[in-house]
Amino acid sequence: MIWLAKDDVDEGISYDIEKDEFVKQIKILESEKKYLESELKRLQYEVNELKRELNRMRAPPLLIGYVEDVLSENKIVVRSSTGPSFVVSLSEHIPQEKIKPGMRVALNKTTLAIIGALPESYDPSVSMAEIEEKPGVTYDEIGGLSQQLVEVRETVELPLLKPEIFRKVGIDPPKGVLLIGPPGTGKTLIAKAVAHHTNATFIRVVGSEFVRKYIGEGARLVRELFQLAKEKAPSIIFIDEIDAIGSRRLDMSTSGDREVQRTLMQLLAEMDGFNPLGNVKIMAATNRPDILDEALIRPGRFDRIIEIPLPNREGRLEIFRIHTQKMNIRDVNLEYLANSTEGASGADIKAITVEAGMFAIRDGRDYVSLYDFRKAIDKVLKNKNSNEPPQHMFM
Ligand SMILES: Nc1ncnc2c1ncn2[C@@H]1O[C@H](COP(=O)(O)OP(=O)(O)OP(=O)(O)O)[C@@H](O)[C@H]1O
Ligand SMILES: [Mg+2]
Repeated sequence: MIWLAKDDVDEGISYDIEKDEFVKQIKILESEKKYLESELKRLQYEVNELKRELNRMRAPPLLIGYVEDVLSENKIVVRSSTGPSFVVSLSEHIPQEKIKPGMRVALNKTTLAIIGALPESYDPSVSMAEIEEKPGVTYDEIGGLSQQLVEVRETVELPLLKPEIFRKVGIDPPKGVLLIGPPGTGKTLIAKAVAHHTNATFIRVVGSEFVRKYIGEGARLVRELFQLAKEKAPSIIFIDEIDAIGSRRLDMSTSGDREVQRTLMQLLAEMDGFNPLGNVKIMAATNRPDILDEALIRPGRFDRIIEIPLPNREGRLEIFRIHTQKMNIRDVNLEYLANSTEGASGADIKAITVEAGMFAIRDGRDYVSLYDFRKAIDKVLKNKNSNEPPQHMFM
């Protein structure tokens, strides 16, 4: 503190300078203090948030239950997901009229009081079916089935787009179509193309998966499937490989068979139950029409049964055109290929084009020749003939 010395000549000046300095210091410290205070506030807020988060994490889980009955004075009968039923009370935040029998609710773990209502649930395999992306298949990519495509579109698309036509004429529009035909002829492909071209929700399920994964639950899944379709209408339900649940069973000896039968019964009931003028349509496909239950194919269920046959010569030519479109082919006569592949399905033709490409690659060429195709035809059709299904199936 030299500057306080009284005998200093520059005492006055020095004092002023030092005072200025001092004031400046105070200002800096004050603003620093303000900054620290606001920082403190922020951190305190953060601590509170974290504490709250911690409490949320520590909160006991809620049980899931189903409302069975609504009694008076905020008393509700619920069945907990673990089994037994209880009479419980309703949280004051929830108006009693919002709680309906059958509803899914969240329960307090110890008192089982109803804490909240939960949205409807669908089995993942049903709700996932709908999430499937729109497939990129267009009608142009299907060869040799123009007549069948017209029929499918008439049955599935037209009632969704122009229901009034049917009303004017005074007939019920068809509820759906069943596609039957040998393996690899384009049944699934047609369904994918319909999905691509329509704005309706397209719900695809595979019959065999239904049964394999959910023994004991097939009927419930069918019910949920139709429920979902109605909710998302306009919609199209596509059941691929329907023979897995729709096959005729002569003796129902095993419980698995009886289960499949119950699933089928539910499917028939749902098909009968919904309004044909409504905007839900059903498509199904199978390569085993011979084993289908008669109830499924009688009029009034699938009103149209469309046969998807093996392609004829023209059909094969079209399919060869489609699948070689992006291939680098040289001197390949497609007519010749169509002529020499009698009995091949669309899937066989697709396989032939891929095999031919592989032969070219193996040979170190970047183009595919007629020779490659000849070898591919031999390979694919020879394999096929050695494990041909019995022909009587499609007579
Ligand atoms: N008519 C067709 N036009 C073009 N490609 C076809 C045709 N039919 C079949 N294919 C080709 O074969 C593949 C398999 O066809 P798809 O899955 O539609 O057969 P499917 O009739 O459903 O057989 P499955 O009865 O075995 O289920 C298709 O992805 C496509 O590449
Ligand atoms: Mg298929």
